[in-house]
Amino acid sequence: MTRTDYFSMKFSPIFLTSTSISATSLTWAVLCLAITTFLGTSFAAQAGGPELKVNAERIEQHILALAEFGKNPEGGVSRVAFSEADIAGRKYIIGLMETAGLKVRVDTAGNLIGRRGGTENLPVIMFGSHSDSVPGGGNYDGDVGVMGAIEVAQVLNENGINTRHPLEVVVFVDEEGGLVGSRAMTGELSGPALGVISHSGLTIEEGIRVLGGNPERLDEARREPDELAAFVELHIEQGAILDDGDIDIGVVEGIVGIQWWDVTIEGSANHAGTTPMHKRNDALLAAAELIQAINQVITSEPGTQVGTVGRISATPGAPNVIPGKVVMSLEIRDLSAEKITRLYRQIRAEAASIEKRYKTPISFQHLDVDAVPAPTDKRVRAIIAGAAESLGLSYIAMPSGAGHDAQDMAQIAPTGMIFVPSVGGISHSPREFTYPRDMANGANVLLKTILRIDESGLGKSS
Ligand code: GLV
Ligand code: MN
Ligand code: MN
Repeated sequence: MTRTDYFSMKFSPIFLTSTSISATSLTWAVLCLAITTFLGTSFAAQAGGPELKVNAERIEQHILALAEFGKNPEGGVSRVAFSEADIAGRKYIIGLMETAGLKVRVDTAGNLIGRRGGTENLPVIMFGSHSDSVPGGGNYDGDVGVMGAIEVAQVLNENGINTRHPLEVVVFVDEEGGLVGSRAMTGELSGPALGVISHSGLTIEEGIRVLGGNPERLDEARREPDELAAFVELHIEQGAILDDGDIDIGVVEGIVGIQWWDVTIEGSANHAGTTPMHKRNDALLAAAELIQAINQVITSEPGTQVGTVGRISATPGAPNVIPGKVVMSLEIRDLSAEKITRLYRQIRAEAASIEKRYKTPISFQHLDVDAVPAPTDKRVRAIIAGAAESLGLSYIAMPSGAGHDAQDMAQIAPTGMIFVPSVGGISHSPREFTYPRDMANGANVLLKTILRIDESGLGKSS
């Protein structure tokens, strides 16, 4: 059954009337309720009884309610980190976490952490994602992972299931501005990174304060490898591979590295009517050539590398003035850090030749928002694949071209990522959409993955 079939079936009267509880499943339910109440453990859920399942409608309701915070006229959200909308959205999330029985705290970096104790003295199994968006973003990027993780905690709570490991549901701060919260957890957020201006206009340092964190005590947000048994992130797949292939689940093999620069091109502003064409130092013209050159460098060799100029400003910015200065962004991504460096050097060489021709000095300022390329943990991948399989879901292994907090967490914990389809692969757009069934599939895989890691650990590291 395809996702579309499911959707039309779900809302057809035949489907609705055919949903009935059989005598056998009723007996099972009563039996399991008795066992679960008696033991207060996950025994029934894990030993072949009716499986625990997340509530698809509840996840959808929570996604739609969160979409109210920072909603824009196009149907998406502009809930950039540290904005009023971000703060309000986080308040709503704290309420959901508390209802799910989690004890919530804000760490010194501003990450929201909802904790549930374990029955043994073991390291934490952490799972979650982010709730901030890009400017003009959608309602699913990050949010599906947050609501899926809270739903898992809610289901465990409702069923009285105690895990051996403590569980922590995390909502990372400012993912879209350079994986800020997860960098703080790995101890890599400091100095220059705190001075970077975020999408909100505040520096990251100011933003962390606004969320109740304390940039002077960032050390306390740091997590040591022996504190964490695993980290798992559920997220939408942002490249249409799952949607095009009608595949339920992506098991992420590795996550790309990302580097950002501000590129400044200095020309000279002058009268656009009186300055002859051959006497100009037009910074925007040089920028246009550089943008073409960047595209040419990135596409000049095989591979999945990508390079983007996504923001540009020309000053003074008037139709009758030759642009005197341009500042634009440059982003390069690849699974190999060496390749990113090599491509960047080629772009610098092109820039050197353009600045000579146009007499417009070009400088590059590296921004301290790097995301390192990271493979996920083989054992966690196998557990995710096994969970998908046992739920009867189709799955494939795939890389992630988007950056995620999971790539930082992979430095300090065995890490896995579960992808679910985003329709048309559209993301970072108000048109982003994921079907309720797909969100529930992902959350069910997350639930099973967490329980399996809890039950048997991860075994030997590879
Ligand atoms: C994060 O969403 C990214 O930019 O890949
Ligand atoms: Mn994103
Ligand atoms: Mn995301």
